[in-house]
Amino acid sequence: MAQLFGPATNTIARASLLCSIALPFVVLLAASQITRSPYNTKVNIAVDQPVFFSHNHHAYELGIDCRFCHTSVEKSAYAGVPPTQTCMTCHSQIWTNSPLLEPVRQSFATGAPLKWNLLNKVPDYVYFNHSIHVQKGISCNICHGPVQNMNMTYKAQPFHMSWCLQCHRNPENYIRPKEEVFNLYAKYQTNAPVIPDQKIVSDKGITREEVALLRGNAPNRSAAMIEEGRKLVEKYNIKVKQLDDCWICHR
Ligand code: HEC
Ligand code: HEC
Ligand code: HEC
Ligand code: HEC
Ligand code: HEC
Repeated sequence: MAQLFGPATNTIARASLLCSIALPFVVLLAASQITRSPYNTKVNIAVDQPVFFSHNHHAYELGIDCRFCHTSVEKSAYAGVPPTQTCMTCHSQIWTNSPLLEPVRQSFATGAPLKWNLLNKVPDYVYFNHSIHVQKGISCNICHGPVQNMNMTYKAQPFHMSWCLQCHRNPENYIRPKEEVFNLYAKYQTNAPVIPDQKIVSDKGITREEVALLRGNAPNRSAAMIEEGRKLVEKYNIKVKQLDDCWICHR
């Protein structure tokens, strides 16, 4: 009897077997690439808000401390977004005719809160806590980018697990003296339009590394700064060995 399947079919069979093994991986890889693309994670994309609120105006030019509006950031898991009353402490007296503030006045008059679109969110199975980070000298900018210079707020980090772990394994590359977390903003704030980084270095006595920190570029640190970081990790009693245990973030 003649062979039903010639030697060529063998190759085809092998190839198709290979394909069927590879296919699920290809699909998974493609899917994870899509979910990780900046479009999907919405990184660096400003989101529409009910009011054109500018951090650059309020936090940098006017010099309002982050904690004036994000009151619980040092005390609780959540930073929180301010209620309309916080805006009205000023806007019941200034810029009262601005059409841009109409939704704020409406919200105040009716008691219906403004519906801000939340940008930063980790999945429900991840535990996150602001207070522990801020109290151990991790600056807002490392996780949120240069918020103080944003007109419309955008998300700066995708919050992938690997990103959290990068710092949990080597916090010395990111940590600052905890009293400096907010002092640095204060030093940098001015009643002037945004000035180039070069000028900040010469005029305000802020070091190049501090400027990088305000931009959220903490990893570009000198050996001396990392050495300082090591000392802080020890001083603040940070348990680096436990910080990448699964239960820390998945409880
Ligand atoms: C005058 C009040 C005010 C001040 C001061 C302020 N913020 Fe905000 N912040 C807001 C409001 C309102 C929102 C919601 C609208 C938006 O996303 O722009 C917000 C949103 C944010 C978000 C995005 C939250 C999310 O996930 O949707 C971050 C991050 C943030 N602020 C960080 C900061 C930092 C860091 C500072 C200090 C440098 C600061 N804020 C100072 C009022 C303020
Ligand atoms: C500490 C006082 C203060 C607080 C609190 C404050 N603002 Fe303002 N805001 C100002 C001042 C001053 C200006 C004018 C800035 C400028 O144009 O130089 C302004 C400008 C604005 C403008 C632009 C108005 C225009 O016509 O250009 C908007 C919108 C605004 N604020 C929204 C808010 C919202 C929303 C909140 C609450 C989350 C808030 N502000 C909290 C002081 C404040
Ligand atoms: C270690 C990283 C990290 C640091 C440091 C950090 N944040 Fe966040 N922030 C996050 C994450 C992650 C979320 C999303 C939290 C969630 O989904 O529960 C978030 C959410 C927020 C939100 C949205 C509202 C909320 O409470 O969830 C605001 C506002 C905010 N951060 C402000 C700040 C301010 C202001 C600082 C500095 C004082 C700061 N963050 C420091 C990682 C950080
Ligand atoms: C830039 C550094 C940095 C980044 C980024 C960071 N962490 Fe942390 N995290 C720390 C430090 C420092 C501590 C304090 C550890 C200590 O005190 O032992 C900490 C502590 C924690 C704790 C322990 C809280 C407790 O109650 O014990 C949790 C949970 C946590 N981080 C979750 C996260 C998650 C989730 C992310 C990513 C979305 C993240 N962290 C990103 C530096 C970081
Ligand atoms: C520092 C915090 C942190 C630690 C420690 C941590 N995870 Fe995660 N994990 C996260 C975050 C944040 C996400 C969400 C990632 C995303 O949305 O892309 C996540 C997601 C996951 C997922 C969902 C799949 C994925 O990758 O998105 C699995 C599974 C997981 N973690 C398992 C683990 C295991 C097992 C450990 C211990 C070896 C661990 N995690 C330790 C923060 C952490």
